[in-house]
Amino acid sequence: MKLQGKVAVVTGAGSGMGKAIAILYAQEGAKVVVADINPSAVNDVVAEIKNAGGEGTGVIVNVAKRAEVESMIETAVTSYGSLDILVNNAGIMDNFTPVGDVTDEHWDRLQDINLKGPFMACRAAINIMKDQPHGGVIINNASVGGLFGARGGAAYVAAKHGLVGLTKNIASTYGREGGNIRCNAIAPGGVKTNIQSSITAPHPLGMAAIGDVGQGPLADPMEIARVALFLGSDDSSFINGDVVKADGGWTAR
Ligand SMILES: NC(=O)c1ccc[n+]([C@@H]2O[C@H](COP(=O)([O-])OP(=O)(O)OC[C@H]3O[C@@H](n4cnc5c(N)ncnc54)[C@H](O)[C@@H]3O)[C@@H](O)[C@H]2O)c1
Repeated sequence: MKLQGKVAVVTGAGSGMGKAIAILYAQEGAKVVVADINPSAVNDVVAEIKNAGGEGTGVIVNVAKRAEVESMIETAVTSYGSLDILVNNAGIMDNFTPVGDVTDEHWDRLQDINLKGPFMACRAAINIMKDQPHGGVIINNASVGGLFGARGGAAYVAAKHGLVGLTKNIASTYGREGGNIRCNAIAPGGVKTNIQSSITAPHPLGMAAIGDVGQGPLADPMEIARVALFLGSDDSSFINGDVVKADGGWTAR
């Protein structure tokens, strides 16, 4: 049990990597706030956790809405008494849209969900964690699109690069001498989840850019959840401000 007694909030926990993280965290002894915009998915994941003997509470949240994000973070404290781990995982993709085709509305939606949402959750979490003697841990699920230019559309790549920058800034501000908060990011490559269903009409320019480096191997969501378990547990106690790339060697090519 790597997370015995810890309280974790996982966003986007209704599907894919978030679901795998919520289930693995609960198996490892954490009390998990299962947060997602999809109510039936939240109910299913909470039921799965409880049926396996774990502890979980569901929260319906749109991470782009400040009041809902703050209420999600508050649920951890009111339900379980503290907040030890925040996993900002909820996110959306686009059609690998290049910048010349990105509308203002498209840009704002990608930034609101993939960057502003994690920022608002970090802010609310940090203001709780910094007053806890043991601090806390934040994990931001970025992407190889947060490290390289051609692994997603312009708005997605910009948001994920922003998320990596936010991660490093939090780590350098709130580390051992500033609240004992560790903040790290994961940069997955391709993962078998439902996010592909949002890629309805991949832009030829975007696909061409990806094509230059070939398609990487696809992970099972649990392979990324195990990275999130390492980063959420004391096994990674001296890792702060890092980006753990988990892409099966895709970007090594
Ligand atoms: N699948 C991949 O290949 C891949 C690769 C790199 C990074 N990522 C990132 O991993 C994260 C998880 O994606 P996934 O692949 O597991 O996708 P997924 O679509 O399977 O799961 C994402 C979950 O987030 C939820 N969600 C979407 N918008 C939301 C919102 N506004 N508020 C709250 N919840 C919301 C969805 O309902 C869904 O349950 C995302 O941030 C994504 O950018 C995915």
